[in-house]
Amino acid sequence: MDKIVIFDTTLRDGEQAPGASLNKEEKVEIARQLVSLGVDVIEAGFPVSSGGDFEAVKSVAGAVKGAAICGLARAVKKDIDAAYQALAKARHARIHIFLATSKIHMRYKLNKAKDEILRLSIDAVKYARNLFDDIEFSPEDASRTEREFLFSVLRGVIDAGAKTVNIPDTVGYSEPQEYGDLIAAIKESVPNINKAVISVHCHNDLGLAVANSLSALKNGARQVECTINGIGERAGNASLEEIVMGIRTRPDIFRDFTFRINTSEIYKTSRLVSKLTGFVVAPNKAIVGTNAFRHEAGIHQDGILKKRITYEIIRPEDVGFSETGLVLGKHSGRHAFKERLKSLGLILTEAQREKAFKYFKNLADKKKHIFDEDLLAIIEDEVKVSAKVWQLDDLIILSGIKIKPKASVSLKRKGRVIKADSGGDGPVDACYKAIDKITGIKGKLLDYSIQSVTAGKDAQGEVSIKVKLKDKVVSARAASTDIVEASAKAYINAINKFLLNPDFANTKSSRRPDQLNLFEI
Ligand code: KIV
Ligand code: ZN
Repeated sequence: MDKIVIFDTTLRDGEQAPGASLNKEEKVEIARQLVSLGVDVIEAGFPVSSGGDFEAVKSVAGAVKGAAICGLARAVKKDIDAAYQALAKARHARIHIFLATSKIHMRYKLNKAKDEILRLSIDAVKYARNLFDDIEFSPEDASRTEREFLFSVLRGVIDAGAKTVNIPDTVGYSEPQEYGDLIAAIKESVPNINKAVISVHCHNDLGLAVANSLSALKNGARQVECTINGIGERAGNASLEEIVMGIRTRPDIFRDFTFRINTSEIYKTSRLVSKLTGFVVAPNKAIVGTNAFRHEAGIHQDGILKKRITYEIIRPEDVGFSETGLVLGKHSGRHAFKERLKSLGLILTEAQREKAFKYFKNLADKKKHIFDEDLLAIIEDEVKVSAKVWQLDDLIILSGIKIKPKASVSLKRKGRVIKADSGGDGPVDACYKAIDKITGIKGKLLDYSIQSVTAGKDAQGEVSIKVKLKDKVVSARAASTDIVEASAKAYINAINKFLLNPDFANTKSSRRPDQLNLFEI
């Protein structure tokens, strides 16, 4: 059997997507879920890029067992040392060193010639060998690199000690046949290639990231780098769930390929990443979109009822979609509640369960039927949230067609309640202005969307927002049966995220690698 190494970079390349920033607690929570999902390597961040990212990688390395933990570094000692320190507590640590090799990058970004790039790559790997057993090297923009030069860099870094060589399609420029051919050519032309695993890392600028990754696997790559929900720079990275289900659904094509992924954890992981990054999953997104297994057309429904395989190539339960049933109501007791949480695979401490039960009872007073999705929203929004600086205490809204909307908001901080009133263009605007008055931070709303958590007029509305706070873009979301309350809570969540992130609060430096000074090397 051919084991495919699943390298998840949701916490590094995924988090590089503008507005997707995660704090260290959130990174640890996602990393734990990635272990339950069964990924082999978790790229937890880019330690040198900021104090916050360093701490986040360190926390993941210290807290998460069951996968190799990887840190990114440029081909410079300072970065490699930072990765070493951040990963010190990992049971299995990997360093991922990158340096651009394409003509365009060498000339315009690095202003360096080929021989210097080759030397720097080899020196960096040799230096890392003193600190790490497991070294991965990426010639950035590999797919646009001259082949002969790419082969010589790969040969050099493998000789220096790299165990994995990653071939990034950094700008998502490749086409599947071409990219597969490149992998086959590497296998053919790099003399020491059998001493390393070939990895692929594809971006989705032309919507081909998954197709390119699968083509590479067919041509000899044995590690694939991907993110949950395909999040990442620009149009994102190759999506983990699509690659994994692509392989699993077509054993006739991907013969003998195996991986450790427990596919029934896919949906849960997708929801968690969506919730913590604030990136809503499109309903038609393959594998994890809410419509991915819904059949609307009469002919399709008829076919499904006769035999599911007429229109269904993946069983929803195989990726962890549970049939949405009526679960609980106002009269459900603690026992039924606990059992339902258990069947949803939600592991809570006793204190968290009590808290969740209180929220559930509150919700059941407002809405008759409590579905699985409602429970998940309670757990995600109220119970498993990291520390809160500000909390919504009360909210009164006056709104109508013929009056100017007004909001009166009370927020709690360290036990003290502070109140402010404001008018606005609409109830949400008035409410946000009142919150700005209280917190003293003026946010600029960049994006706002609302989705119902379940069907029904009494459904909870889940508000997802992107807010610019000072010069940072923060995503957040919250749910409630009252959509103005959900809007207020989402905004407060964004402010709390901003205040609790040391990079946001204390430094002006960006955490994104492309904004670091790359000319240092
Ligand atoms: O896309 C890319 O080239 C990267 C490298 C750092 C591997 O993310
Ligand atoms: Zn990338």
